[in-house]
Amino acid sequence: MAVDVLLGLQWGDEGKGKIVDVLSPHYDLIARFQGGPNAGHTLEFNNQKYVLNTIPSGIFNKNAMNLIGNGVVIDPITLKKELDNLKANGFDPVGDKKLAIARKAHLILPTHQLLDAASESNMGVDKIGSTLKGIGPTYMDKTGRNGLRVGDILLPDFKERYAKLVAKHRSILSHYSKIPDFSEKEVAFFNAIEFLKMIPQVDSEHFVNQYLCEGKSVLAEGAQGTMLDIDFGSYPFVTSSNTTAAGACTGLGVAPKNIGSVIGIFKAYCTRVGSGPFPTELENETGEELRKVGHEFGATTGRPRRCGWIDLPALRYAIMLNGVTEMVMTKADVLSGFETIYSCTHYKYQDETIDYMPYDINAVKTEPVFEAIKGWKEDITGIRQTSEIPVDLQNYINYLEKHLKVPIKFLSVGPDRDQTLTLY
Ligand code: GDP
Ligand code: IMO
Ligand code: MG
Repeated sequence: MAVDVLLGLQWGDEGKGKIVDVLSPHYDLIARFQGGPNAGHTLEFNNQKYVLNTIPSGIFNKNAMNLIGNGVVIDPITLKKELDNLKANGFDPVGDKKLAIARKAHLILPTHQLLDAASESNMGVDKIGSTLKGIGPTYMDKTGRNGLRVGDILLPDFKERYAKLVAKHRSILSHYSKIPDFSEKEVAFFNAIEFLKMIPQVDSEHFVNQYLCEGKSVLAEGAQGTMLDIDFGSYPFVTSSNTTAAGACTGLGVAPKNIGSVIGIFKAYCTRVGSGPFPTELENETGEELRKVGHEFGATTGRPRRCGWIDLPALRYAIMLNGVTEMVMTKADVLSGFETIYSCTHYKYQDETIDYMPYDINAVKTEPVFEAIKGWKEDITGIRQTSEIPVDLQNYINYLEKHLKVPIKFLSVGPDRDQTLTLY
C-alpha cells in the first residue's frame, strides 16, 4: 500500500477540506502533514458547515482514523476549541478513539503569536499578511532547535522548558515594543495542555508505516497551497512549511517510494489571501463578482480573498513540483453565468513572453496573457451525473486537461459533500 496525498495547487483554500471529507470513506487513515491553525478547511453536509484548523478532515467519517503528523504545528488552545466545538455538535473523535497526535509535532506558544504580530507590524507595508497564528515563529524555533514538542508535555520539567523558551521570546519581543500582557492566554494554554494529554500520542513515522504494512490505505491532507511553499512559493510571501508532496514524507515519516497518487486540487479560477504577487488578480468589478458569488472570505481570519482568473503557468509549476497524478476542480459553479472566462497561458515579463514564474516575481511586474473561453450559463449546483455537465463547462475541462496534461478526476459544483462528480 502507498500513501496518497491531497494538496492545493494554488495559494490555498482550493477546497481541500471538502474533498478530503468526500474521499475519506476510501481510506483507513487520514493524516495532516504540515501547517497549523493558519489553515481553515471547510466542509458541509446535512446543512451543517464545519471549519477545521488542525484536525484532519476525515473526522466525520465513522470508520477512518485521523492523525496529526509530526510536521504540523499545534496551538493547544485552538485544538481544544475545535474538539469542544465538534463535541457540541455530536462528534467526539477523542472519546471514539479516532484521533492521534504525533509526539514530535511542535507546539505553538502564546508568545509565538506575539512574535508573529510584532514581526508583521514591524514590517509595515512589506508585511506577509500572516494569519498571526504563530506559524512562522514556531517553525523558526523548530529549525533553530529550541522548540517544544507535544511529547514534552508529559515530562516533569515541561513548565521549566516552557519558561526558558518564553524568556527567550520576551527578550526578542522587547526589541520591538512593550510586551502585551498575555497572562490570560497563558492560563488558557496550560488548561489546553491538560486537555491535550488526553489525546493519544504516537510516533507518526511508525504509526503510518504500520498502516502500510497491514495493507491499509492512507490519505495525507495538505494545508495551504503549493504557491505558499517555503521553498517554491513566492518567497517571502509564503508560509513556513513545505506544502508540496515532499512535505508529506517529512511531515509524517513516509519514504518517497511509498507515495502513491498525488491528488492536486484547484479552483476553476484563482484566489489568494494575504500579501504577495498574484499575476491574474482582478482588481475590478469582475474580481468583486467572483468574491461575492464564491463567498471568498478567509475561513480562518474572515479576510476578503483576492480573486482572479486561472493561472496555467502557476498550475503547471505546481503539477511538476508535486508529481500530480490526478486533479480535482472545485467551484466551477461560481463561474456559471460568466459569458466569457479567461485563462492565463503566459506572462509578459520585461520584453519577453514566458510560461514560468520568474525568480523576481515580487519585484518585476509579471503581466498575464489571457485566452478567452466561452462560459456556461447553466446553474450546475444540482447536477450529479457527468451527462448533465453543460457543453461549455466540458470544453473548459477538456481545455485544462489538454494544457495541464493531467486528468481531472473530480468536479465540485458546490460546497456540500453531495455536490461532487466523479468524472472517470
Ligand atoms: P481549504 O482550505 O482548501 O479546505 O478551502 P476553504 O475551506 O478555506 O475554502 C473553500 C471554500 O469553498 C469553503 O467555503 C467551501 O465550503 C467552499 N467550496 C468548496 N468546494 C466548493 C464548490 O465546488 N463550490 C462552491 N460554491 N463552494 C465550494
Ligand atoms: P488553507 O489550508 C490561504 C497565507 C496567509 C499569508 C501567508 C503566511 O486553509 O488553504 P502564515 O499564517 O502561515 O504566517 O501566513 O500564507 N495562508 C493561507 N492562505 N489558505 C491557507 O490555508 C493559508 N495559510 C496561510 O494569508 O499570506
Ligand atoms: Mg482554507
